[in-house]
Amino acid sequence: MLTLLGIESSCDDTGAAVVRLKGDAGEVLSNVVAGQTELHAAFGGVVPEIAARAHAEKLDIVVEEALAQANVRLGDLDAIAVTAGPGLIGGVLSGVMLAKGLSVATGLPLVGVNHLAGHALTPRLTDGLTFPYLMLLVSGGHCQFLRVDGPEDFTRLGGTIDDAPGEAFDKCAKLLGLPQPGGPSVEAEAKAGDPKRFAFPRPLLDRPGCDLSFSGLKTALMRARDGVVAEKGGLTRQDRADLCAGFQAAIADTLAEKSRRALALCPDATAFAVAGGVAANATLRERLTKVAGNTPFVAPPLRLCTDNAAMIAWAGIERLRLGHHDDLTLSARPRWPLDQKAAPLIGSGKRGAKA
Ligand code: KG4
Ligand code: ZN
Repeated sequence: MLTLLGIESSCDDTGAAVVRLKGDAGEVLSNVVAGQTELHAAFGGVVPEIAARAHAEKLDIVVEEALAQANVRLGDLDAIAVTAGPGLIGGVLSGVMLAKGLSVATGLPLVGVNHLAGHALTPRLTDGLTFPYLMLLVSGGHCQFLRVDGPEDFTRLGGTIDDAPGEAFDKCAKLLGLPQPGGPSVEAEAKAGDPKRFAFPRPLLDRPGCDLSFSGLKTALMRARDGVVAEKGGLTRQDRADLCAGFQAAIADTLAEKSRRALALCPDATAFAVAGGVAANATLRERLTKVAGNTPFVAPPLRLCTDNAAMIAWAGIERLRLGHHDDLTLSARPRWPLDQKAAPLIGSGKRGAKA
């Protein structure tokens, strides 16, 4: 039995969680997340300095809360796991410094975790997946296909060369005057819309491989919106719904086709799993379930799919089981690709480095 505290502070969520390993299964004893949405709302994106300060203020509070909710004391833990990158460096540093302090004070081992590995290993915590499996990470900051062969063995099959899909949804909402975060508001509007009225591009489908691009979609949306405004002097509710439906269909189509290609590259995959906030999108889920065919499609519950510290504690458990941990030389890394062999993806959007 192993019990780990996990700490997450790489973007705009301050998280602490306690996860226990019993046999081969993980149990989430607590999972506390303090968001910062309202702190950044006026700026149209995450402001790194504000994020770092908020993490520094909140980290010890969420750690205390996570321990209390789990009814566990520091002395009951076996190790401290912390996100050591990739992400906004001020936030990552705050978490790493706290974890080091706790490790020194308690004598517990320190386990540095790659945030993306946290996402990618979540379906093992929630659904007990066995290796190898295919993972699609789709959030406001990440978009990549990973073949997962072990807790530290990832092959990137493709990823976005510019924006992440969540970022695209957020920009779409902004352009149409809908509230943030954009994904849920665009999805809600799209329900009443005709996805065929506006012809949006399906970026990179004409090129082989699994890379993706979403930045051109917002330009197409802006043109379509401006066209309607020029013609009628404004947007009706129906115009907005049709624009949202077309935009969402373009993202779902693109991700579905690239997923089909990624699955073809992993014929031995035991499952096709998704993680990240965009995985909440019902249209996308439906499309991906179809593409998966006979391969089981796995989408962890949303609170473990979006940024959280339970996934960091779990990834820490996985590393510790391999006999791997760190010492006080652990450094915070703004960029940290999971697949060291893959060429770097260009682009880093408003939510920081995509590694
Ligand atoms: O994983 P997440 O909570 O945070 C990171 O980006 O790390 O993902 C947030 C993103 C936002 O961009 C949000 O607009 C998007 O996920 N999102 C959605 C939906 N719910 C959240 N996108 C599309 N459809 C949704 N239902
Ligand atoms: Zn994330």
